[in-house]
Amino acid sequence: MITVNNLNYSYTDKPFIRDMSFRVSRGEIFGFLGPSGAGKSTLQKILTGMLPDYQGQVQVHGVECKKHKKDFYENIGVDFEFSTMYEKLTARENLNFFSSLYKKKSKSIEGLLEKMGLAQDADKRVSEYSKGMKARLNFIKALLHDPALLCLDEPTSGLDPTNNRLMKDMILEEKAKGKTILLTTHNMQDATELCDRVAFIVGGQIMALDSPHNLIMSRGARTVTYRWQENGEQTAVCALDEISTDQRLQMLIHDNRLLSIHSSEPTLNDIFMDITGRALV
Ligand SMILES: Nc1ncnc2c1ncn2[C@@H]1O[C@H](COP(=O)(O)OP(=O)(O)O)[C@@H](O)[C@H]1O
Ligand SMILES: [Mg+2]
Repeated sequence: MITVNNLNYSYTDKPFIRDMSFRVSRGEIFGFLGPSGAGKSTLQKILTGMLPDYQGQVQVHGVECKKHKKDFYENIGVDFEFSTMYEKLTARENLNFFSSLYKKKSKSIEGLLEKMGLAQDADKRVSEYSKGMKARLNFIKALLHDPALLCLDEPTSGLDPTNNRLMKDMILEEKAKGKTILLTTHNMQDATELCDRVAFIVGGQIMALDSPHNLIMSRGARTVTYRWQENGEQTAVCALDEISTDQRLQMLIHDNRLLSIHSSEPTLNDIFMDITGRALV
């Protein structure tokens, strides 16, 4: 679906995106994770044919992005950070207009508005929309022509928890239909939940690329923390693969004296900091 080989790109005379290579398969949700300024949006713009002066190979649906023709967009849905709606038109008018630009028949606008909780506000002008409503409308616009590839740049930013959930469920529904999805986020929880694989991006470079599960398991031993009563409350931590040889823990289990016991593993955020030395904000 997507092949990137030795991609280099710069806005100025200084190199920015450096030597990136990766592939994305059909039906995959692929995440770009990184702090602000890392190059995530630049990468999405290159992949959607908006920045053609790159070096290297970047192919989407077998088409080299810098040489794409107009019909390239028949199968790509784009939801980038800024609202691209006509403010003076209503949401419904906007969606009718944008769907008329594609050769393909549009999905049901009514159905999409309903699903994203915007049906009641469909005839309001977009200028009256809140940030979260605009984010949902922009997302609907990306889905309109039922594209095989969705490029979503921070789609859930500014959403309340209910709408965040709604949008994530819609993203998973598209995946279930076999769609390929590129997702930029700095929300590690969303990435862990949604993405089949993620690329950690810092300073225009990929620092790691794997499934969230493998990244989490690759580093940091899993541990067990347990509490018991002995001259006040005591707490101890031991490695998960050493519990059978932890004499104190064995004795506490034998005597039924444990107050609590739980295992824990690092989060994707911990791993990101571990690998890149950077926090994700
Ligand atoms: N049109 C542009 N001209 C020059 N520099 C740009 C341009 N657009 C973005 N940049 C630079 O690229 C970097 C941000 O890249 P971006 O891909 O937006 O990062 P992210 O999406 O990870 O926050 C910033 O350092 C910014 O100054
Ligand atoms: Mg960005």
